[in-house]
Amino acid sequence: MTALSVSTSSAASLRADALVIGVAKGPKGIVLAPGAEAVSEAFEGKLAEILSTLGATGAEGEAVKVPSPAGLKAALVLAVGLGDAAEGSYELEALRRAAGVAARALAGSKKAALALPAESAEETEAVALGGLLGAYAFGTYKSGGGKEPVGELILLSTRKGSKDAKAAVERALVVGEEMNRARDLVNTAPNDLNPKGFAAIAQAAGKEHGLKVEVLDEKALLKGGFGGLLGVGNGSTNPPRLVKVAYTHPKAKASLAFVGKGITYDSGGISLKPAGHNETMKCDMAGAAAVFAAVVSAKRLGLAVNITGWLALAENMPSGSATRPGDVLRMYGGKTVEVLNTDAEGRLVLADAIVRAGEEKPDVIVDVATLTGAMMLALGSRTFGVMANNDELRSTLHTASGEVGEQSWPMPLPPELRKGMTESTIADLANMGERMGGGLVAGLFLKEFVAEGTDWAHLDIAGPAFHEGAPFGYTPKGGTATAVRTLVRFAEQKAAGGKA
Ligand code: BES
Ligand code: MN
Ligand code: ZN
Repeated sequence: MTALSVSTSSAASLRADALVIGVAKGPKGIVLAPGAEAVSEAFEGKLAEILSTLGATGAEGEAVKVPSPAGLKAALVLAVGLGDAAEGSYELEALRRAAGVAARALAGSKKAALALPAESAEETEAVALGGLLGAYAFGTYKSGGGKEPVGELILLSTRKGSKDAKAAVERALVVGEEMNRARDLVNTAPNDLNPKGFAAIAQAAGKEHGLKVEVLDEKALLKGGFGGLLGVGNGSTNPPRLVKVAYTHPKAKASLAFVGKGITYDSGGISLKPAGHNETMKCDMAGAAAVFAAVVSAKRLGLAVNITGWLALAENMPSGSATRPGDVLRMYGGKTVEVLNTDAEGRLVLADAIVRAGEEKPDVIVDVATLTGAMMLALGSRTFGVMANNDELRSTLHTASGEVGEQSWPMPLPPELRKGMTESTIADLANMGERMGGGLVAGLFLKEFVAEGTDWAHLDIAGPAFHEGAPFGYTPKGGTATAVRTLVRFAEQKAAGGKA
């Protein structure tokens, strides 16, 4: 992985393959952002003009390279666009994205120095995190390992030594590494990541970071009566697992449960998905990957909270032993569910995990799941939906996501949509309801399994979990690790004594 450090060296004297500066769209052409002063001097004040001549406008996503003049030790200057010029400081998300664009543009080089705006600790963290996330590359299956990401990123800061800048870079390093781990898990081909393998990875990483990890295998699930996980896993030769990852802090201010959907491959089961709908379904464990990454991050950051992560892992396949549409499952805790569509499997594994999580009486349960195509139809592919049984919790999570650069939108749980699901003639519930508002129906299904009096929220990340378009900002193609930062932010707020 790309190394990250802070330096107070002047931009002029630093030896590197490239020196990265920010440029923005001003009212009268492009302007250089704070941090670019020394570089500008080396160009004798002509840098903005030169960049304009090369076609730079300062637009977000833009990356323009210029050979360095004699006064700089770096071979070239890379100007990345920040969008509209800011009156005061730049938006943190603009900084993250610009640093991400720079890191991606410099893939293959050894050492790059970032002279982007980094005047406050928040800005320093944003540049560091954007750089680490933008440098991400998944080369596991490419002969020769694929294109090397940039070897080393050096943040030029005037704040080195000040405690908060150091802490900011450390935070970025932890969150960046754990997000990139989650991305690796999502990108791994489904023939190389089944429930057992995922559980083993969680155990190994848990051990490395001093977390308690417990795995329920198929025998333990049968003994415990986890009918949802077993029903979904039935059709696969790779049996399901329920993984519990516990992080505790001696001065914990709250107890949180994070529950992740971990379908390592979703073929749809007997209600098989048609071609065109299953090629990316290795991403159906992105919720579990995000939960795992968030718990490890919380531990590495030493947040004053207790968090239990629950990874509901299964592979949804069709076979002679698969659950049929029409089967009735007895879920953990005793409720019965008529499976009308085996492709609505996420809610079945989550129901078991939510009931199990609730037994430990956490203050709040947050589940994360690539749950419905309907949520993608509603919000597009970059925004996740937030549902909750508590208005304040829903708005806290929505706000938290915005603060860390993750797009989300609050969604309702209209009580009238519950009816269709409770009309199973033979069981307590059906796993399908009305087609309209399908993402909300799925949320209402999960709500049935939340213990009375427990605050609960549901993040439907079906849209942003897996990015199919061209890379942008710090987002690569493939797994994105969406929701990790929102969960970490939420845990931080709880650790600071924040309400709901
Ligand atoms: N994993 C899918 C949802 C999904 C779709 C995630 C596209 C990411 C991208 C989920 O298990 C599913 O198949 N949901 C069904 C539910 C329906 C059968 C009620 C859906 O959304 O079509
Ligand atoms: Mn499905
Ligand atoms: Zn699914």
